[in-house]
Amino acid sequence: MDVWEAIMKRRTVRRFKQEPIPQSILINLVNAARMAPSGANIQPLKYMIVDDPAKVIRVFEQVRWAAYLAPNGAPGENERPSAFLLILLDNTIKAATPELDAGAACQNIMLAAAAEGIGTCWMGAIKRERIREILDLPERYTLHTVIALGYAGEEPVAEDASDSIRYYKDPAGVLHVPKRTLKDILLPANGMQSAKSQPAKDE
Ligand SMILES: Cc1cc2nc3c(=O)[nH]c(=O)nc-3n(C[C@H](O)[C@H](O)[C@H](O)COP(=O)(O)O)c2cc1C
Repeated sequence: MDVWEAIMKRRTVRRFKQEPIPQSILINLVNAARMAPSGANIQPLKYMIVDDPAKVIRVFEQVRWAAYLAPNGAPGENERPSAFLLILLDNTIKAATPELDAGAACQNIMLAAAAEGIGTCWMGAIKRERIREILDLPERYTLHTVIALGYAGEEPVAEDASDSIRYYKDPAGVLHVPKRTLKDILLPANGMQSAKSQPAKDE
């Protein structure tokens, strides 16, 4: 899968096949994160793989899925992710742009995963202190977000947004993700002058 295809096809997945992801692949995804851009090249992020099924279940209990689909947004018992990746900020490294670095790193991870047929859900609605306890995370690390991973068990579709950006499921259970159109997000090239109406001739 080339980069363009991965960008266009990647969708947040919340239903997964019950098939473990080899740890070597998860490590490779962290390698993709390692290559992401970083403000001042500080690279303040660290990562933890959680793929032990007993630990995965415990982390699973601390995350909130698909607020717009509540109470039916969470994966069912046989649709759960097989791993989580923790995105951590190492507080011993003075970060210049930690939030932006995390965004770039996570996108690298999710695109690389998509190329492997692995679905991802980047998650910010998480119980950070509970996850810290479960995984015995030292205070040195701030838990930024987690990414749930598993071989994709659904194929959500993107569509042009009209009046709402809320994702929804159709009667067949397919997740639809409205994206604002290019027309909506792209301002006139080279400045706004061209968008202004031309003055009338006798002005
Ligand atoms: C920073 C961030 C945090 C997110 N947190 C959650 C979350 O806690 N739970 C969830 O189900 N989805 C979460 N998502 C996934 C978004 O709902 C999803 O990206 C959005 O609906 C667009 O769908 P797409 O990723 O398929 O384009 C998060 C996405 C981002 C970028």
